[in-house]
Amino acid sequence: MAFEGVTVVDHPLVAHKLTLMRRQETSTKSFRALLKEISLLLAYEATRDLELMKVEIETPLTTTMAPTLAGKKLVFAPILRAGMGLLEGMLELVPSARVAHVGLYRDPKTLTAVEYYFKAPEDLSERLVIVLDPMLATANSATAAIERLKEAGAQNLRFVCLLAAPEGIAKLRGDHPDVPVFTAAIDDHLNEHGYIVPGLGDAGDRIYGTK
Ligand code: PRP
Ligand code: URA
Repeated sequence: MAFEGVTVVDHPLVAHKLTLMRRQETSTKSFRALLKEISLLLAYEATRDLELMKVEIETPLTTTMAPTLAGKKLVFAPILRAGMGLLEGMLELVPSARVAHVGLYRDPKTLTAVEYYFKAPEDLSERLVIVLDPMLATANSATAAIERLKEAGAQNLRFVCLLAAPEGIAKLRGDHPDVPVFTAAIDDHLNEHGYIVPGLGDAGDRIYGTK
């Protein structure tokens, strides 16, 4: 299943780790560790085309022009809670990144996103903003987070998740066609409760051991 603007990061290490995460017997400790490991590989893909500029440096042998990242530091924007599970690994790869926290929960009855917290760097309009959430189900949370970040000035956004439902991808790409999506896998469908099938269950509960 191919969607325009969607990159499926189908590296064998990602696929293997994701299978371990899906298993219901995987412990909270292992689930969290695997999510961090996968987040490094997702970050690698989502930042593959970052702009570079040449600067003059001195090596022990000579002077040379060498590439360095151009522009302002990027922003990671985890959607609370589960997005925090992707943040740690991403910050290891890009330690100077800024962080915007977007607090949203999904109302279990209506499946709409309810905002409870928002704090972002002031100059979002000048930075690449990478939104993080392991699960893209109905996409109500992702769409609300992206709308909120755009309201706060963001103009250049990407969305990174672990698992996506085809329904969620269609909604997110329809509402925000300017936002490329990176995911480790696209699953089969959403069930009647808005859960991704086969999926991995409730990501927040599995990361934090709350169920
Ligand atoms: C989960 C998940 C996403 C959202 C996805 O969060 O982490 O944010 O649901 O569903 P959607 O695409 O249908 O909006 P949840 O609201 O359960 O909150 P939590 O991260 O605090 O557990
Ligand atoms: N949120 C989750 O954590 N898992 C799903 O399958 C859907 C929404």
